Amino acid sequence: MREFDEATITQTVIGRLSECDDPRFKRVMTSLITHLHDFVRDVRLTEDEWLTAIQFLTDVGQTCTEKRQEYILLSDTLGISVLVITINHPAVQGSAESTVLGPFYWEGAPERPRGSNLAEGVKGEPAFYSGRVLSADGRPLENALLDIWSGDGEGNYDMQIPGETGMKARGRIRTDAQGRYWFRSIKPTYYPVPTDGPVGRMLRKMGRHPYRPGHIHMIVSAPGHRPVTTHLFVAGSEYLDSDAVFGMKESLVTRFDRHPAGGAPDGSTVDIPFYTVQYDFRLRPA
Ligand SMILES: [Fe+2]
Repeated sequence: MREFDEATITQTVIGRLSECDDPRFKRVMTSLITHLHDFVRDVRLTEDEWLTAIQFLTDVGQTCTEKRQEYILLSDTLGISVLVITINHPAVQGSAESTVLGPFYWEGAPERPRGSNLAEGVKGEPAFYSGRVLSADGRPLENALLDIWSGDGEGNYDMQIPGETGMKARGRIRTDAQGRYWFRSIKPTYYPVPTDGPVGRMLRKMGRHPYRPGHIHMIVSAPGHRPVTTHLFVAGSEYLDSDAVFGMKESLVTRFDRHPAGGAPDGSTVDIPFYTVQYDFRLRPA
């Protein structure tokens, strides 16, 4: 067929994949074309709307820098990231749940001794985190790695702070022979995802707020086990019920117990009130 109408165009485009020798790629592209064509027919897309969409995606790409990933933010705010995670890492009773990576991961955070203060010079209320990394059957995992990052107590990540060029509130900690980890950071607060770019404009147009509930990020890994990209959410935080990126999981909501100024769990003395947080991560075998 050389000429196509609204109904026949889809099969014609898919037919051009007949020489594609990668079955998985062929399947993905066939489905993508089918859904995109159905979407265009469904909403009766106008030419202005199509051009607006092209301009929007162009803006999303042009907003990306070494330190900012607007496409991940777009995927997160449309619920696609969490959908992909849910399909690939279904919740399994007795193992730590996954959630979104988010746009603020910075690879290569320094490895620090257990007990380190990862948030030296960072605004926020002190929080002492501890717990264990265990196998699914409850064996302690020695030398498991926690790659940790967090915003400050005002909800800003280092890469968002003007003039801040180094890593802040980031670090990697390994477990001891009993699978234990402990470190100091701050109690994270709720924060808006970046709203000064095209994704922010999209959220405003949708009538949505941009906030995420307070959380600290971690990628927990151990040899022979499946790594888990996850958060600990602050119990009682604002926006637990309406996370802008749909990443909230009940199993990751964690109590932050408040203590008066004085002796901290690491033996130091803290001159302002502080929090303690305890969470055990169970990892499934690889
Ligand atoms: Fe975050």
